[in-house]
Amino acid sequence: MSVRVLYILFIVIFLSCKSTRFNVDNSINYCLNQTKKTIELLPSDSIKIPRSVHKDSSNWKCVNYKDWTSGFWPGILWYAYEYSHDSSYKNAADKYSNELNPLVYKSAYSHDLGFKMYCSFGNGFRITQNESYKKKLLVTADTLATLYNPKVGTILSWPVYVKQFGPHNTIMDNMMNLELLFWAAKNGGGDELYNIAVNHATKTANNHFRDDYTCYHVMLYDTVTGKKIKGVTHQGYNDSSTWARGQAWAIYGFTMCFRETKNPLFLTTAEKATDTYLHILPSDLIPNWDFNAPDEHTKDVSALCIIASALLELSELISDKAKSKMYRKKAETMLYNISNKKFQSRNINSSFLLHSTGNKPAGIEIDASIIYADYYYLEALLRLKKLQK
Ligand code: GLY
Repeated sequence: MSVRVLYILFIVIFLSCKSTRFNVDNSINYCLNQTKKTIELLPSDSIKIPRSVHKDSSNWKCVNYKDWTSGFWPGILWYAYEYSHDSSYKNAADKYSNELNPLVYKSAYSHDLGFKMYCSFGNGFRITQNESYKKKLLVTADTLATLYNPKVGTILSWPVYVKQFGPHNTIMDNMMNLELLFWAAKNGGGDELYNIAVNHATKTANNHFRDDYTCYHVMLYDTVTGKKIKGVTHQGYNDSSTWARGQAWAIYGFTMCFRETKNPLFLTTAEKATDTYLHILPSDLIPNWDFNAPDEHTKDVSALCIIASALLELSELISDKAKSKMYRKKAETMLYNISNKKFQSRNINSSFLLHSTGNKPAGIEIDASIIYADYYYLEALLRLKKLQK
């Protein structure tokens, strides 16, 4: 074998080993340190829930319980406590989860109730078995179910946009909130919640995808016939484009639905949505905010984190061993590719990650640090850690 061939062989082996050299503990500990910094930065006399840090700032923009992202910060604190057993994270997690208590008494104004309650109290109950968390989860699952329209077979995601879109809109993000319904059905909430979640997911699987399994962000339905009218966008580039985070919600949502139901339709949907996504990704596996947008450089790291977490779960649910290995490897490489100084916030601000895009068409949170990117990054790292054991 010539020196040249040996050299090429070495490079190939080096590159293929790159992602397996990824030290997950280092990245988890980095997240926990950043979390500590944020706890210290937040005011102790009033509750403010961190949501994002803009590109030109180092300060958190904070929100209250009404905001759709309000569950992610308590969720991060629960994950930090679960990994470290450090009670300071638990105290903060309890404090910030309880900041969402008004949701227990409010009527439903958005499908996002699932994100809010399940990331906060859902993780809290899973980790502590605290009965008061369970009661709040059960009440809010019933609240979320009030948005279900049996004629259509899906939840009305955004009552607030009925004037703009017509009587019934269902968005891909809504798939994520079915997890609260599945959980409640298993924990004394009743079969109806399970049926609503299955009907919603089935109708979404059948209507929300194009032939190539990229998805629409919003599907509009006729409330008289129950039939779909058309797919449109709200946060994507245009109605026929592929908004990266929409595809991420689809992959994560259908993977979760298969875990909860073992319905093969949901597995096929998760796999097809994944395969098309992996096919259109750039070589660094870091998506632009929308695959069809002309600006090539606005990344959305949040979509990467959601998908990496989902793929780690999907890799455990599918029986095809080669495909399972490929999904896991892709997820590891995605996480590896952002666990460096170009993508981690480090001393720039106390979030975990830079370069997410919230709502480009509205000019909100472009190339920013966003709390849900951090939540799914930490979740994915913890999932990877478990798989490595
Ligand atoms: N669920 C809203 C978003 O993904 O931005």
